[in-house]
Amino acid sequence: MLHDPNRVYVFDTTLRDGEQVPGCQLSTPEKVEIAKELEALGVDVIEAGFPISSPGDFQSVVELSKAVNDPIICALTRANRGDIDAAVAALKYAKRPRIHTGIGSSDMHIKYKFNSTREDILARAVDAVKYAKQFVEDIEFYAEDAGRADNAFLAQMIEAVIAAGATVVNIPDTNGYCLPSDYGAKILYLKENVQNIDQAIISVHCHNDLGLATANTLAGVINGARQVECTINGIGERAGNTALEEIVMVLKTHHELNLKTNINSKHFSKLSAQVSRMMRMPVQPNKAIIGKNAFAHSSGIHQDGFLKHRENYEIMNPEDVGIDESDIILTARSGRHALKHHLERLGYVTDKINLDQVYEKFLTVADQKKEISDNDLLSLMSEGEEHTYKNGYKLNSLQVECGDTVNPTATVKLEYEGVEHEAKAEGNGPVNATIKAIESVIGKDIQLKELTIQAIHGGSDDVSKVNMRVSYEDKSYLGYGFSTDIVKASADAYLDALNKFL
Ligand code: KIV
Ligand code: ZN
Repeated sequence: MLHDPNRVYVFDTTLRDGEQVPGCQLSTPEKVEIAKELEALGVDVIEAGFPISSPGDFQSVVELSKAVNDPIICALTRANRGDIDAAVAALKYAKRPRIHTGIGSSDMHIKYKFNSTREDILARAVDAVKYAKQFVEDIEFYAEDAGRADNAFLAQMIEAVIAAGATVVNIPDTNGYCLPSDYGAKILYLKENVQNIDQAIISVHCHNDLGLATANTLAGVINGARQVECTINGIGERAGNTALEEIVMVLKTHHELNLKTNINSKHFSKLSAQVSRMMRMPVQPNKAIIGKNAFAHSSGIHQDGFLKHRENYEIMNPEDVGIDESDIILTARSGRHALKHHLERLGYVTDKINLDQVYEKFLTVADQKKEISDNDLLSLMSEGEEHTYKNGYKLNSLQVECGDTVNPTATVKLEYEGVEHEAKAEGNGPVNATIKAIESVIGKDIQLKELTIQAIHGGSDDVSKVNMRVSYEDKSYLGYGFSTDIVKASADAYLDALNKFL
C-alpha cells in the first residue's frame, strides 16, 4: 500500500479506551451517535470496543460497524484465539474491519502480568497475528507497555509481528512514563532497527500520567509514526489518553512540520461538549483547545493587546475549532479598551458616551462581582444618560386592550427619524400583541429568543425588569426595559434590542 508520507492517520479510541473510564459508560445508541460525529469529524479509524469483554461491547461493535461507512472500524482483543473469534464475529458488518490484538512487551508485564518469558510472549504475539490474519486483512498489533520495554526486544517483537502480517504496529506508552525525547528515540530506534518496518505504519498511543501524552505523541510523529491514537477531550484510563483536538491542532498550527490529517477541526467544540455531556465528564475550563477559557482573555494587559491585534495573544483562530469568537471577560482588572469593546458589541455608540464616567461606575460594580455580564452592563448603562444609539425607534404611545372577554390587541405609535408610524395587532396576550404591532412597523425578520420578566423587589406595585434576547441575521442582541407596567417594559426591552442593529 502506498501512503502519503506527510499524512498522519487519526485513530480515535474515545469509545474504547475512553469509555472504559468508570462512570463514562455509554449505551450502544449513544456510541452510534458519537461514532457518526467522529465520522463527520474525519477520523480514519474508530476503535469501537473490546467485543469479548461483555455482550454490550460486542453489540456496540456490531452496531457501529453497520452505522459507519468511511472510517475503519477496529475491535480490540488480547493475544488469544477466543478474543479474536469474538472480534471477527462482531466486525461481520464492518465495511473496513480491523483487529487490534497485542500483548505486554516490557519485562515488568512479561514477568508480573503473564508470569512468562520473552520467548513465550513473542510466540503468542506471532500466533495471534497469524490467526487474526486468516479472517481480516487489516491487523494492528499493540506491544503493551512499550514505553518501558527494552528497545532491542521490542524491535524483535515488532519485526516478528510484521512478518506475521501486522499492517499497523502500535507502540503504547501504556503508563504514561516516557519523556518525549525517550519516546521519540524509541520510535526512531524501531524505524532504524526493524528490517521490515516499511511494510507497516507505526502508531503512537500515549497516556497522560505525567501530563506528557500530547508531547510524546508529537515526538513519535516527528520521528516517523504516522498514526496517532487519541480520544476526544483526552478522556481515558487514569489521567487519560492523548487529546485528539490537541494533537490535531499542534500539527495544524505548526506548518513547518509539514504534516496533515483529515480532521475538520471546526467540529471540535460541539463534539467535545457532546462527549462531555454523554460521558458525564466535565471539561476543565483551562483545557487546551476546547476549555471554556481557551479563547478567553481576562487580564487588562492581555485584553488591550488582543484588541489591538488578535495574534498578540492568540496562536489559533477560535473559529477553526468551532468557537464563534474569543471572549474578553470583564472583571475589575479590565481596562477602558475592553469595556468599550463590549459596549460597542452591545450596540452603543461609544463616541457619544462619557467613557471615563461609565468606567468609574463599571469598576464599582466589578469590585463587587467576579465577572460582569451583558445584563450588568445594560443595567449600568440604563442608570444614566448613556442610553444612546446611533438611530432609534422611540415608543411615542402604547395602548392595549386585554381581559377574558376580548382578543388581546395592542396599538403602538413609533417614531423613527422624526416620522411617526402607527400599527395595531392582535396576539395571544398583551405582550405578544405589542411585539407583533412593533414587528409590523419594523417589517424585518426578527426572532424573539428569550423573554424574562422579573419583579425587582416583589409586590404588585413593583417595577418590573424585562430582559429580551432577539436574533437577527444570525446574531443575538439583548434588550432591557423597566416599568411598573410589564407590557410597557416589554415594548421598551424589545425596542432596546432592535435599536442595536437597526
Ligand atoms: O494503553 C494501552 O496499552 C492500550 C492498549 C490496549 C492498546 O490501551
Ligand atoms: Zn491505552
